[in-house]
Amino acid sequence: VPKEFQAMKDAHELLRKFYHHLLVNTKEGQHALEYLYGRGFSQESIDKFQIGYSLASWDFVVKFLSKRNFIPEWMEKAGLIIQRERDGTYFDRFRDRIMFPIFDRNGSTIAFSGRSLGGEDPKYLNSPETAIFNKSKILYNYHQAKSSIKKLQYAVLFEGFADVIAADRAGIENGIATMGTSLTDEHIALLRQSVQSIVICYDSDNAGVQAAYRSGNLLQDAGFELKVAMMPDGMDPDEYIKKYGPEKFRHEVIDASLTWMGFKFLYFRRGKNLQNEGDRLNYIEEIIKEISKLPMAVERDHYLRQLAAEFSLSLDALKQQQKEFYFAEK
Ligand code: GTP
Ligand code: MN
Ligand code: MN
Ligand code: MN
Ligand code: MN
Repeated sequence: VPKEFQAMKDAHELLRKFYHHLLVNTKEGQHALEYLYGRGFSQESIDKFQIGYSLASWDFVVKFLSKRNFIPEWMEKAGLIIQRERDGTYFDRFRDRIMFPIFDRNGSTIAFSGRSLGGEDPKYLNSPETAIFNKSKILYNYHQAKSSIKKLQYAVLFEGFADVIAADRAGIENGIATMGTSLTDEHIALLRQSVQSIVICYDSDNAGVQAAYRSGNLLQDAGFELKVAMMPDGMDPDEYIKKYGPEKFRHEVIDASLTWMGFKFLYFRRGKNLQNEGDRLNYIEEIIKEISKLPMAVERDHYLRQLAAEFSLSLDALKQQQKEFYFAEK
């Protein structure tokens, strides 16, 4: 069986190099390269992340691999080609897409994610789960980011590959992302091996903010020190960097990230009109519940005072309420 896994990895390695070559050096890849430049990707990023292009062909990979004596059954199990039920022949999984190789923590290529160039669905097509690729354990760019993560003692967690790559161009080299799935316990276990602090920098649209709240709670429970970076107008990091540049991203997004509690103050405000009494009471109740989860009495006191001041409430009443929630939790 290890021989089969090795062949799967070898095929990925060969294809990674070939896809990259097609993107950078050939006429067939030119429109893809122009698409990337148009989005602000640099030549340096394209090399560093080994971005490539898969041809608009049904059988380029099938032929490429069989010429090199790879066994088609194994290559199908690797997710690179797909067998037709009708006649048992094979066709390429990835066609006419920008190819992002996925590396394991040792730098072996174990999967691909292919982005469509136009508006075709799916926007990102991933390799399926295989013997060498388990999405819930892989963090995109971890193999390159880990030295920077160790040095800076924090990691920046993004939502998408494009964000990791744009941030890297902006000088943030400790960025990682999940593969379009939610954060899992396995991801968290992997992160715990190298770091204690995380800055969550998800898209600032509705879905991203919801996901940040979910991931933040998991990371908080796992004992990480947490911050959350936000962008205006529902932007994502790659859009922000393209529009405002690296400098502003580093200073006004990453350096300005909110504490976890600060993020929750904003989070529970969303969709509420605090001029409305019912909304206001709901908000205050939610925040007091969050405050009662804080382990340190001084912290609880600090935020209760902030809340009392903001809504002109009696601190005693808030403290009384908070104690009730606090003991209900125990
Ligand atoms: P760009 O549009 O290229 O900038 O990508 P994005 O990272 O901004 O995408 P988006 O915010 O829509 O999604 C975040 C992440 O979810 C992506 O990086 C992908 O990993 C994943 N994702 C998005 N669309 C799809 C899809 O159609 N299929 C799958 N499997 N994953 C997707
Ligand atoms: Mn998104
Ligand atoms: Mn996005
Ligand atoms: Mn998007
Ligand atoms: Mn984007």
